[in-house]
Amino acid sequence: MGDEIYARPRDLRIGTFAEQIAIDADDVALKPGSLSFAEAGAVPLVALAAWQALVEVADVKPGQKVLVHAGAGGLGSTVIQVAKHLGAHVATTASSKDVEKVRALGADVVVDYTAQDFTEVLSGYDVVLDSLGADSLERSLTVLRPGGLAISAVGPPDPAFATQLGKPLLKPVMALLSRKIRRRAKRLGVRYSFLFMRASGAQLTTLAGLYADGTLRPVLDRTFPFADTMAAMAHVEQGRANGKVVVTRGAPT
Ligand SMILES: NC(=O)c1ccc[n+]([C@@H]2O[C@H](COP(=O)([O-])OP(=O)(O)OC[C@H]3O[C@@H](n4cnc5c(N)ncnc54)[C@H](OP(=O)(O)O)[C@@H]3O)[C@@H](O)[C@H]2O)c1
Repeated sequence: MGDEIYARPRDLRIGTFAEQIAIDADDVALKPGSLSFAEAGAVPLVALAAWQALVEVADVKPGQKVLVHAGAGGLGSTVIQVAKHLGAHVATTASSKDVEKVRALGADVVVDYTAQDFTEVLSGYDVVLDSLGADSLERSLTVLRPGGLAISAVGPPDPAFATQLGKPLLKPVMALLSRKIRRRAKRLGVRYSFLFMRASGAQLTTLAGLYADGTLRPVLDRTFPFADTMAAMAHVEQGRANGKVVVTRGAPT
């Protein structure tokens, strides 16, 4: 009783805009003591997604080259840090105002997307993590080395996602949805994988250690008090957030 915890509830347990929620014990971990609740709230979704993309799906090894799109955003700012922790050489896309920020997070190469086309300056990458969408994903395939892997956090879903959902009958649907990008990847001799993170208290325990020892740090754009949750959602929907947006019970920052 009384433990401070953090979690990302599993699917179908959606409902964290609430003062109380019932969560499966397997999805919960002790909150890193060094983080405030607002900081801890910014961690689980993006840290689990980053971990599962880079460790489970891509199996990133030291020295491999990883491109992280939108490095200044909520997801990208965490993926950069996890990729560096794994020993990767990290490139990211960000606008001029965020170059110093993403460098401070560990990016070795920063492509200012307002001034440069990343496909013209990057090549030979082992892994790309895309969270921007179809155009960016398609172009990302061209910066991979033969056999390299493009992972999208925004789709289209691939047949493996049907397995993850425990709905193998949906495999043909997922195959159809991702047919174009998978074909294009095959033609280029690279691979495509869709990522939809899943809850994991065990992984959050591992990640808590990395936040506690300073290897990783949460990146917050701003916080909103609970009463302004709708304004927080509107802010996120603009797609310009500089880190995670957190809803708290207290005053805004
Ligand atoms: N599948 C999963 O498991 C999973 C997990 C987490 C998130 N997601 C999804 O991933 C997406 C991204 O989430 P997020 O929280 O990172 O979003 P976000 O924080 O709202 O992303 C905003 C950031 O993207 C940057 N950006 C916009 N256009 C860009 C471009 N063309 N090139 C480079 N950077 C650009 C913005 O930079 P400026 O300030 O310069 O505009 C800003 O820093 C969302 O759709 C989310 O739902 C999926």
